Amino acid sequence: MRLCEALSSLILVLALAFLYNDVNCEDPYRFFTWKLTYGDIYPLGVKQQGILINGKFPGPLIDPVTNDNLIINVHNYLREPLLISWNGLQQRRNSWQDGIHGTNCPIPPGKNYTYVLQVKTKWRLNKILNDGHNLPFPHGLLINGRGWNGTTFTVDKGKTYRFGISNVGLTTSINFRIQGHKMKLVKPAKNYYIDVSTRFTKQILTTTSILHYNNSSNRVSGPIPQDVIASSLFQARTIRWNLTASRPRPNPQGSYQYGLIKPIRTIILENSAPIINGKQRYAINGVSYVAPDIPLKLADYFNISGVFSVGRIPTNTNKGKSLLQTSVMGANFHEFVEIVFQNWENFLQSWHIDGYSFFGVGFSSGQWTPTSRAYYNLRDAIPRCTTQVYPKSWAAIYIALDNVGMWNVRSENWARQYLGQQFYHRVYTSSKSYGEMNIRSQRMHFFVAGPEVATL
Ligand SMILES: *[C@@H]1O[C@H](CO)[C@@H](O)[C@H](O)[C@H]1NC(C)=O
Ligand SMILES: *[C@@H]1O[C@H](CO)[C@@H](O)[C@H](O)[C@H]1NC(C)=O
Ligand SMILES: *[C@@H]1O[C@H](CO)[C@@H](O)[C@H](O)[C@H]1NC(C)=O
Ligand SMILES: *[C@@H]1O[C@H](CO)[C@@H](O)[C@H](O)[C@H]1NC(C)=O
Ligand SMILES: *[C@@H]1O[C@H](CO)[C@@H](O)[C@H](O)[C@H]1NC(C)=O
Ligand SMILES: *[C@@H]1O[C@H](CO)[C@@H](O)[C@H](O)[C@H]1NC(C)=O
Repeated sequence: MRLCEALSSLILVLALAFLYNDVNCEDPYRFFTWKLTYGDIYPLGVKQQGILINGKFPGPLIDPVTNDNLIINVHNYLREPLLISWNGLQQRRNSWQDGIHGTNCPIPPGKNYTYVLQVKTKWRLNKILNDGHNLPFPHGLLINGRGWNGTTFTVDKGKTYRFGISNVGLTTSINFRIQGHKMKLVKPAKNYYIDVSTRFTKQILTTTSILHYNNSSNRVSGPIPQDVIASSLFQARTIRWNLTASRPRPNPQGSYQYGLIKPIRTIILENSAPIINGKQRYAINGVSYVAPDIPLKLADYFNISGVFSVGRIPTNTNKGKSLLQTSVMGANFHEFVEIVFQNWENFLQSWHIDGYSFFGVGFSSGQWTPTSRAYYNLRDAIPRCTTQVYPKSWAAIYIALDNVGMWNVRSENWARQYLGQQFYHRVYTSSKSYGEMNIRSQRMHFFVAGPEVATL
């Protein structure tokens, strides 16, 4: 923490000196001020304390277009330090702003910091986990902050609508459906259920909201759609890119077909739930991550020894004794890599990689072996930044390591990542021309971090 403190005056001065350079870029800048406070919310009809952004729950929507620069000044009026990370946005050459423990110091109570984000709440839960308990099963599911039938989406018949669906919960995977629709709105005008329910949990939670066709006077009717879990694997494989309608995202080197590139190596990541020193921990390849006092990104930049060393996490499954480690995996810029997530546990795993999108090429049950590659989808998988891995199953991805930096790889189950199911992937090049943004181009301000971190 001392580094965070010592750097604060130095970095702030550098930052101001470079402010004008930043503002000269051609791409549009959009400025936001977010004030985070506590407030009463009633999402399930019962009063509870929530975290509000500008007095609202859920918080405001930012709808940026490619190349927009989002400048978000976040004021922390909470009683605990705050870090905000934003899933799903690739921060090109810039892991400095990732808002995760290994790259940023948290914003202390009463302070503000300016950056970019996506919403996740972690809230008085650290203590439960530190004491070695599981997080309680949620009381309910919310759609846009409202419980059963709480939200209605009104649409016009014949038009096409895009729904942004984001599970901002901490631990539970969900299934999203619209009654009678295949996500193509071509049905007669009446009202339909939108049904969100948990998956692979002992207890199934469901919530609904209403899809309302404009001018329709028919009330919602019929049973809530039912489903069987077995269809999930099938469903995962059917999510395909329509190559006739559009090609994968453009990139500066031109469009490439991921299936034609031979991965340079295979990394196998297996999750486990070991007890270490008498406490419940979660691990990847037998290593459970512990956060250092100094963000890894800063230790790397300032060559501070003793904080981490690259290679402390195996790149293949490891049946040895599980241990605690500040785990950083090394990789070279421009490598094209196959990653296999193997899940022998009886729970639905969800893996997220910051800074990248990747192609989910295979999902299946049991043990992954090299012969599993025969069933890969090498043609029309969609680019994504999170992948599910079904219980006692595996998932394989192809990823082009085209973004230099120190990037977090984690379980999206928040209890698991907090208790060690994460590591950092240091994607490195010595070449300055492809290199990452300089620390001095960042309007950075480091703070002294407290013992607890709230992540929004
Ligand atoms: C904090 O907020 C003030 C006023 O809104 C702003 O001028 C300042 O740049 C912010 N500081 C940081 C570190 O973001
Ligand atoms: C939601 O609306 C449906 C249809 O009006 C009703 O049958 C159901 O009881 C409602 N659920 C709740 C929890 O209000
Ligand atoms: C519903 O229809 C009315 C009148 O045709 C129109 O003014 C309104 O914008 C429509 N609402 C939505 C959500 O499409
Ligand atoms: C809704 O009803 C109004 C009034 O009857 C009509 O003018 C309008 O075209 C209708 N809108 C749709 C989307 O059907
Ligand atoms: C793919 O896109 C084309 C062009 O928009 C469309 O005609 C076709 O129906 C789409 N295919 C599927 C499976 O949705
Ligand atoms: C860290 O070490 C590298 C390689 O020795 C060097 O190029 C770089 O300038 C050092 N960085 C700082 C901030 O001292």
